[in-house]
Amino acid sequence: MMPPLGINYLCLFLVRLSMVLSTVLLFSRSPHLPHPTKTQSIADLNVPSASALLPVPAVDPCTGRYIYVYDLPKKFNEDIVRDCRNLSLWTNMCPFTTNAGLGPNLNNTEKDQDGVLQNTGWFFTDQWMLEIIFHNRMKQYGCLTSDYSLASAIFIPYYPGLDVTRYLWDPEIARRDKLGMDLIEWLRQRPEWAARGGRDHFLVSGRSTWNLQRGLDQSYAWGSKFLVIPEVQNMTVLTVERRPCGDNEFSIPYPTYFHPSDKSQVATWQEKVRSSERPWLFSFAGGRRPDQPEMVRNHLIDQCVQSSRCKMHECQTGGVGCNSTSNLMKLFMQSQFCLQPPGDTRARRSIFDSMVAGCVPVFFHNESAYVQYRWHLPRDFENFSVYIWEDEVKTGRVRPEDVLLRYSDEKVREMREAVIKMIPTLIYKDPRYTSEKFIDAFDVAVNGVLQRVSRDFSQPIPLPSPSFVCLPLRFPSTLSLSSLDSRLRSFFSHSPSDKQRSRNAQISRDPFFRTRSTINPIIYKRLIQSWTTLLGCKFEALGDYCRPALVMSLITMMCFNGVCTGNNDSKLFEYMLSLPCAGSSIK
Ligand SMILES: *[C@@H]1O[C@H](CO)[C@@H](O)[C@H](O)[C@H]1NC(C)=O
Ligand SMILES: *[C@@H]1O[C@H](CO)[C@@H](O)[C@H](O)[C@H]1NC(C)=O
Ligand SMILES: *[C@@H]1O[C@H](CO)[C@@H](O)[C@H](O)[C@H]1NC(C)=O
Ligand SMILES: *[C@@H]1O[C@H](CO)[C@@H](O)[C@H](O)[C@H]1NC(C)=O
Ligand SMILES: *[C@@H]1O[C@H](CO)[C@@H](O)[C@H](O)[C@H]1NC(C)=O
Ligand SMILES: *[C@@H]1O[C@H](CO)[C@@H](O)[C@H](O)[C@H]1NC(C)=O
Ligand SMILES: *[C@@H]1O[C@H](CO)[C@@H](O)[C@H](O)[C@H]1NC(C)=O
Repeated sequence: MMPPLGINYLCLFLVRLSMVLSTVLLFSRSPHLPHPTKTQSIADLNVPSASALLPVPAVDPCTGRYIYVYDLPKKFNEDIVRDCRNLSLWTNMCPFTTNAGLGPNLNNTEKDQDGVLQNTGWFFTDQWMLEIIFHNRMKQYGCLTSDYSLASAIFIPYYPGLDVTRYLWDPEIARRDKLGMDLIEWLRQRPEWAARGGRDHFLVSGRSTWNLQRGLDQSYAWGSKFLVIPEVQNMTVLTVERRPCGDNEFSIPYPTYFHPSDKSQVATWQEKVRSSERPWLFSFAGGRRPDQPEMVRNHLIDQCVQSSRCKMHECQTGGVGCNSTSNLMKLFMQSQFCLQPPGDTRARRSIFDSMVAGCVPVFFHNESAYVQYRWHLPRDFENFSVYIWEDEVKTGRVRPEDVLLRYSDEKVREMREAVIKMIPTLIYKDPRYTSEKFIDAFDVAVNGVLQRVSRDFSQPIPLPSPSFVCLPLRFPSTLSLSSLDSRLRSFFSHSPSDKQRSRNAQISRDPFFRTRSTINPIIYKRLIQSWTTLLGCKFEALGDYCRPALVMSLITMMCFNGVCTGNNDSKLFEYMLSLPCAGSSIK
């Protein structure tokens, strides 16, 4: 599903500025979440080679794989789902919480006249429901234990993404933080926590962790501060999109629409996409960002509509058909390559949807996938995808079509086959069924967690290469706070107009904006320049991902409610120190 972001965005400001918040919401009906019984079976080995190759029946196959799941008070999960009307001010999210988080059965809700989708296994799944899906999937895990001393890892079935989703527009930051703080309070009392200081604990965020990393306790700063809590930093956080600097964050795939309940459904689907006719060399499903002309997707859309080899599926706000799953999947199944440029964030759910359709992804930023989904994507990126650095497209040095035309049919077939082979581990199987095991994205994620928590945490954990870290950022010791402030003051006094300033302030409150690379290229460049001058090349070391976040945070800080004011030096500095990417390395 493509949520109508544009509408949300507009509403956000109207709503937020007039402070008409959740008071108008109606109380919702309670969706029924199925609760599969806990299975005691130990037959569900996640690593097939262990049982397939080793004839050692005496060994408990769950050794080293036991997981203990906290029985949390309902307010941390079930109540959030029960009060699903609070999940969005604009859309009733309740249908998406049904079927164990998979959402409505597609065969019932959508006419699939072309027979694109199979009759079973397809759902109208919302991209942010992974917490519910994962929790339910965990209930089917084959090596659960009720004795935490036996467990290698401890799962916390708290829904941090859905929790904060209820309060993202709420100026009261205490509300955004409350449940996360309650959780920590609750954990602190527990012997399970005391045993290893939470080092063996893990949880899932179904939203990008940018929503959980608020550094400053000000209502205009975005999101909750869940990830900043020291206890949480001891845990492993699985998320659909990590911050490259979040050392304890690990990306796992966004949920797609395909949730088969047995192996044969996957095999049938793989065969279907393998034999699908692909008349289009490449395609793109998504919308323009008219207010951000520099974004590479705008260039790609221009090129796509002009090319007879490209199929464009325009998904603008209110665009007809962009929410139709069968239309989307049909497009991906008819394309050899699928363009996956950054959008509101660097990664996209569409990456996984298109790969499930056997379409070879084309990435324009290495943070869209390669440095994100390390457990789920093979290291040999060029074997299953194409990489074109976005700057090459923006400057016109490279035309994606030319690049794609250079791949021989044979090579494309090889890459597609690699993608098709990956399908089972990119999807989450229907968590309500135990039969017919196959290794899915959940199993891969659990393996990753088990490997990580078995490490010796007294040692710093080396990031696997290609490593993306925020290199040390050092403030020159001579940098005075007042010079910092006056630089920023002078920057803003040079802003083109009051109107522009107020626009900046608006945009900077857009949830998704914080990870975009531009507001307005000129403004952005000047901010970068001023910071680069201030901090020397060290600023560059912040990395592509953190740099915009830092700059945007500063803008948020400086321009609130459309009025750019000067700033209090020490607050600004305190804020910078508190930024998760910079904060950890500023000494
Ligand atoms: C959900 O919304 C209802 C109705 O507006 C409100 O009474 C309730 O307190 C909200 N729940 C939470 C957890 O915010
Ligand atoms: C939809 O799929 C479910 C199983 O996933 C099946 O029980 C049901 O009969 C199907 N409905 C239609 C209209 O095909
Ligand atoms: C983090 O874990 C270590 C043990 O590895 C423990 O000493 C420390 O107290 C934990 N931190 C918090 C905030 O609980
Ligand atoms: C897609 O959007 C259209 C127009 O908003 C709506 O009528 C239709 O029901 C939506 N389709 C699905 C599957 O939700
Ligand atoms: C990637 O492709 C190369 C060349 O075709 C091949 O040698 C290599 O084994 C492939 N890697 C994987 C993981 O399949
Ligand atoms: C990401 O891509 C850019 C440009 O190609 C490159 O400079 C950078 O080193 C890459 N980062 C990683 C982690 O591969
Ligand atoms: C700036 O902030 C500091 C610490 O919050 C405070 O002590 C100081 O009085 C503030 N200065 C002004 C001018 O507001």
